[in-house]
Amino acid sequence: MTANPFDLTGKVAVITGSSRGIGRASAELLAKLGARVVISSRKADACEEVAEGIRKEGGDAHVIACNISRRAEVEALIEGANAKYGKIDILVCNAAVNPYYGPLLDIPDEAFDKIMNSNVKSNLWLCALTMPQMAARGGGSVVIISSIGGLRGSTVIGAYGISKAADFALCRSLAGEWGERGVRVNCVAPGLVKTDFARALWEDEAVLKRRTASTPLRRIGEPHEIAGAVAYLGSDASTFMTGQTIVIDGGVTTASV
Ligand SMILES: NC(=O)c1ccc[n+]([C@@H]2O[C@H](COP(=O)([O-])OP(=O)(O)OC[C@H]3O[C@@H](n4cnc5c(N)ncnc54)[C@H](OP(=O)(O)O)[C@@H]3O)[C@@H](O)[C@H]2O)c1
Repeated sequence: MTANPFDLTGKVAVITGSSRGIGRASAELLAKLGARVVISSRKADACEEVAEGIRKEGGDAHVIACNISRRAEVEALIEGANAKYGKIDILVCNAAVNPYYGPLLDIPDEAFDKIMNSNVKSNLWLCALTMPQMAARGGGSVVIISSIGGLRGSTVIGAYGISKAADFALCRSLAGEWGERGVRVNCVAPGLVKTDFARALWEDEAVLKRRTASTPLRRIGEPHEIAGAVAYLGSDASTFMTGQTIVIDGGVTTASV
């Protein structure tokens, strides 16, 4: 073990959806801890701003635009990361979509398919393209950003919850298949975090009030409060951990009602 198991010097990380929110905070922390990071989202210019900020702090960041719902772009992301840095040690499957807010039985097929394709199948692609090369080099770490929406029901974002529950299952099965080759796979399940993605929830005063009242810490989270777990799971501090989920939700899923 290195003197500091959280030190990521020499490691290369690819983080999808890292132009803002949880992905951005994770990329910035991984870079601060020494990793060379690939910043990615659908918009290269937004990613470039993040990368420039990391470089200004003395870090090493490279931008590759990628829409995670398109297989060719996902392949180009992984190929591009390998071409730039020669390897991938940490894969953070962070980008996800939720195009539907309403009763589960009314969801149009296209919206359901979009959610499952982007939030589950795309993670499978990313893992399939990355884990074999991690194994060939002796190991690596995959971190999937799931959600507490996969742990409990919702009357408005049910299909999203189905996709996030599927991510837990994806994680457990891949952990079982790849553990003996040194590749670990874990999930992080955030509660409500103040990002654009969850704006519909935290901008609704009634929802916010209800949520904070039922949350032991009495507030919603900030992106940097999720990034620490991503860094831990990507680092040698977590080398005996695989197939698991870290829930970071201010305690809301543990609270008595
Ligand atoms: N915020 C919460 O309350 C919360 C709670 C639990 C779990 N999560 C999970 O946390 C993860 C990150 O969400 P966030 O809250 O940080 O969202 P966010 O602030 O809205 O950021 C989303 C990121 O993903 C990118 N993105 C969106 N669609 C994409 C696509 N099709 N392909 C590639 N990149 C795409 C966005 O950039 P572009 O627009 O440039 O593509 C952006 O960089 C998601 O997996 C989400 O399910 C969030």
